[in-house]
Amino acid sequence: MTVRSLFPTLVYTASLQARRDAVLNTRLQQECRQLAVDDVAGQRWSKRNYPGGYTSYGTAARMHTISPTFARLEALLNGHVKRFTRTLAFDLRDRKLVMTDCWVNIMPPGVVHGLHLHPLSTISGTYYVATPSGAPGLKVEDPRLSQLMASPPRTARARRTQGPWIELPAKTGALILFESWLRHEVPMNQTHSTRISISFNYGWF
Ligand code: NI
Repeated sequence: MTVRSLFPTLVYTASLQARRDAVLNTRLQQECRQLAVDDVAGQRWSKRNYPGGYTSYGTAARMHTISPTFARLEALLNGHVKRFTRTLAFDLRDRKLVMTDCWVNIMPPGVVHGLHLHPLSTISGTYYVATPSGAPGLKVEDPRLSQLMASPPRTARARRTQGPWIELPAKTGALILFESWLRHEVPMNQTHSTRISISFNYGWF
């Protein structure tokens, strides 16, 4: 007999490990923190939409076009996105997949980022600038969850990939890429330190 695994959900993880990447990370962290101080409109936006934290999603969502530091990150991410789309077997011969959005997320202790997906995009992801030990990862949801009718719970022996959610660890210097329809959230930051990340979207036109 044969049991097949069909329609896999692919998630790409990698780490920026070169020595120059550590320098880039330090600069990114400085710019993220500075933006959170300077972006008064973003502070207001975050108050309504990201309680307790700061995100530039509503006010400075194309950081790769504003800051050379973020543009450098974009250049590095482009290579990873290309590799991921090859694994996904995307036919992009006559189209360009480009970064459309890139924004900052600052999560002090106690902040959560609720379940969502990234409409109108193709590939989304996050680069982790600062993740204190014990900081929450990225919790992704089985895209079939809304269709699981009378599906029984899984046994304790089930593989991690057979449950409805998986939390991917968030480590400083690492990145996660996924197709933009994959719903995800960041559970509450229960550490005593701030978690900083940069999220981004790629679209094809
Ligand atoms: Ni997201």
